[in-house]
Amino acid sequence: MNNIAKVGIIGGGLMGKEAASAFGRWFALNDYPVAVELSAVCDLDEEVLGWYEQIPSVQLITSDYEQILASDQVDVVYVALPHHLHEEYYIDILESGKDLLAEKPFGMNLQAAKNIYGAFEASSSFVRCSSEFPFLPGAQRVIAEINSGRMGDIMEIHAGFLHASDLNPQKPINWKRQSQFCGEIGVMGDLGIHVIHIPLRLGWQPRRLYSQLQKVITRRPDGQGGWAESDTWNNATLTTDVNIEGKDIPMTLEMKRLAPGQKNSWYIEVLGTEGGVRYSTKDTKTLWTFRRGEEQAWQQIDLGFQGPFPTITGGIFEVGFPDYFMQMLAAYFAEREGSLNGRFGCLTPQEALMSHHIFQAALESKRTQSVVEITY
Ligand SMILES: NC(=O)c1ccc[n+]([C@@H]2O[C@H](COP(=O)([O-])OP(=O)(O)OC[C@H]3O[C@@H](n4cnc5c(N)ncnc54)[C@H](O)[C@@H]3O)[C@@H](O)[C@H]2O)c1
Repeated sequence: MNNIAKVGIIGGGLMGKEAASAFGRWFALNDYPVAVELSAVCDLDEEVLGWYEQIPSVQLITSDYEQILASDQVDVVYVALPHHLHEEYYIDILESGKDLLAEKPFGMNLQAAKNIYGAFEASSSFVRCSSEFPFLPGAQRVIAEINSGRMGDIMEIHAGFLHASDLNPQKPINWKRQSQFCGEIGVMGDLGIHVIHIPLRLGWQPRRLYSQLQKVITRRPDGQGGWAESDTWNNATLTTDVNIEGKDIPMTLEMKRLAPGQKNSWYIEVLGTEGGVRYSTKDTKTLWTFRRGEEQAWQQIDLGFQGPFPTITGGIFEVGFPDYFMQMLAAYFAEREGSLNGRFGCLTPQEALMSHHIFQAALESKRTQSVVEITY
């Protein structure tokens, strides 16, 4: 008989519903050690709460998050709230003794992340932060290729996450485009953890960086016939140095909301003296690998469905966002149970804190127009 983990969601919007839908088809996972059940949800929006009424396992629907923290029907809380609320809510959850699956960016700035980290250290809660792209079959193959040692000495790393929907100047304002709710780090807070998770896990911590941050579209329709200030950084390019085996290796990190032609393109490319590997969600089924030889030739490999956790889905089928988001949730609950068994795990609180040191250094670099050493 499997163990059962009971989950409460705080913040039932876009990502809360995505998580609820993954829990609703948990039986798609084969031979998985933990049953997961969504038992409670909290949101302030009645319409959002109404959506959760269709889920039979949900017993508690509330606008008072204290009820989630007090409920003996909740072991783990998944929080998908605007960034200015992360600090208060994460700390309250940790003080309640429940486990936490946090959303990025794990606080709206470095100080908030430090405060959350302090509460984590003082607790005995299991805490990880959401970051699903490493759980794509293509990303898993990139990690395996790097770990294989077949690439020789690493020479260059490029990673990024590119959106274009903000190119539309008529797109109404929302909380993700206002510093008071999403933090001064702007696009870095929204997209940065997705870009930095794999490099950090591989030990590639930037030592110094130079940032190029851009504010291009600075006001948007407020949805009521007027205009509102949109004061966040739209695009960020960080040129960094990482130390690999005693050498400085260039690593560029791109996070853009204004990237023409890019709907939701996450990519990583690593080049070594003997080989290279490249993957982008722009072409979800394709892994590119390079081997040094007579010809300069990249090989294209057609990917199937294989994630780190086996599912009922056929191995030749295509993967989509709900699939790798579910694989990430599976990694969270497996690790919490002590059953990760060497697989890639969710972003740790230490890694989330490191990402904030990088974003803070990027703000400092922009302010001083200079290269900034990063201290962690
Ligand atoms: N992992 C990913 O790929 C991914 C994608 C998008 C967003 N996110 C992250 O998820 C989090 C939420 O983003 P979203 O896109 O779901 O936002 P959203 O705006 O769609 O949902 C947020 C929800 O929180 C509710 N809310 C606001 N204040 C509240 C409060 N005090 N108490 C209870 N509920 C409250 C809102 O009513 C809304 O339903 C953010 O941290 C964001 O960065 C992650």
